[in-house]
Amino acid sequence: MRRAGKITAAARALAGEMVTPGVTTQEIDQAVYHFIKSQGAEPSFLNYQGYPASVCVSVNDEVIHGIPGKRVLREGDIVSIDVGAFKDGFHGDCAATFACGEISEEAKRLIQVTRQSFFEGLKFAREGYRVPDISRAIQAYVEQSGFSVVREYVGHGVGRKMHEAPEVPNYVEERCGRPRLLRGMTLAVEPMVNAGKAGIQVLKDGWTVKTADGSLSAHYENSILITDGEPELLTDPSGLPE
Ligand code: MF3
Ligand code: CO
Repeated sequence: MRRAGKITAAARALAGEMVTPGVTTQEIDQAVYHFIKSQGAEPSFLNYQGYPASVCVSVNDEVIHGIPGKRVLREGDIVSIDVGAFKDGFHGDCAATFACGEISEEAKRLIQVTRQSFFEGLKFAREGYRVPDISRAIQAYVEQSGFSVVREYVGHGVGRKMHEAPEVPNYVEERCGRPRLLRGMTLAVEPMVNAGKAGIQVLKDGWTVKTADGSLSAHYENSILITDGEPELLTDPSGLPE
């Protein structure tokens, strides 16, 4: 998990550095594909349920699962990069939203709140707490900040498969029960935050998820290891901007 996480985090950082005006989203995908292969790993997303690329690139009002293509990034865009790598039998999964050149103050605040909501959840990511303690902390922080959490997509266990139990919602969801956190569990915690209302729609390409109201959206995700103390960030974000 540590080896997979390291490669995945480095792929996210590489993709983030490429977020500049004039770059196409497929150029980012190509660079990530080659990087992951160069590390003796496989892109987890490629061909996952038919997904056609190694990375998801979701721009502005796109929430998640944007498919890389000929779209050219422009100054002022916010760009969510989500990537997974499979190494020696295990997956890493992580995401972050990056600024393309200068962005609005509102966009900066959205990115910052989304990132911080992950760290608010992380305070409860240790043995002795339960999954909904993480969910509640994320939701409370986001909603106090005047934004909304997406309901239809959630964090998850990660390991030999990219998506494992338990689900880790970014809001309190009775249906998911109250699983206990135990040392040794590996989770992908991933708030998706809309500047406007929580509602989303899926485009006709079958993948791209957008905000229903056209508002901006941001995403932040790390794979983490639960311990009896501080959680370990398997996809170390320390190299990212801010
Ligand atoms: N990274 C996403 C997640 O966090 C999954 C991407 S779906 C894929 O769960 F099709 F792009 F792989
Ligand atoms: Co994930």
